[in-house]
Amino acid sequence: MDIRWDMFIETEVPKDELIISRTDLNGIITYANETFARISGYEVEELIGKPHNILRHPDMPKRVFKELWDTIKSGKSWSGYVKNLRKDRGYYWVFAEVSGVYKDGKLVEYKSMRSWVPKEKRIEMQYKYDDIRYQDRENVRGVSYIEADIYDKLIQKARDEGISVEELIKKLI
Ligand SMILES: Cc1cc2nc3c(=O)[nH]c(=O)nc-3n(C[C@H](O)[C@H](O)[C@H](O)COP(=O)(O)O)c2cc1C
Repeated sequence: MDIRWDMFIETEVPKDELIISRTDLNGIITYANETFARISGYEVEELIGKPHNILRHPDMPKRVFKELWDTIKSGKSWSGYVKNLRKDRGYYWVFAEVSGVYKDGKLVEYKSMRSWVPKEKRIEMQYKYDDIRYQDRENVRGVSYIEADIYDKLIQKARDEGISVEELIKKLI
């Protein structure tokens, strides 16, 4: 079981900026603009040469990316909402448009332009993707509140056992 504690800090893409990248035909990043680096928390140099799925957030259903690849491989352009994972494990939402780059009529690369998403849309898409992952029997995100006293006990017990709270909860489930 995989429990994550650290993915809830949102970065907002500025309304007047675009995140731009290009990849080779296998999805390896060949170009990244400054906005891409700043919003994802990476340096441009770190992004180049990496597969685009380093940004993949566990809240994204697999079928969204299957549809993306099926569409762009067939020569059409794809657009949709994507929740991305930052280097520091925070996240940011984008509206992405992905399409082919052609040279002399031949497909040589893919390019993507990503922009700001209104707050209401981000909430709507979060619910939609949560539903899809549940339907597809993928990972399900659960949020729960526990009393501070219980949390203190968990910390104490984890300390006694010499493990992290996360490991203790995994053991208890
Ligand atoms: C031009 C281009 C841009 C992409 N942008 C993203 C992105 O911003 N975030 C993301 O998770 N995947 C993006 N992808 C899709 C990834 O290549 C990958 O399919 C996805 O992260 C899912 O990972 P997986 O295929 O290893 O399951 C992009 C692909 C291309 C061709």
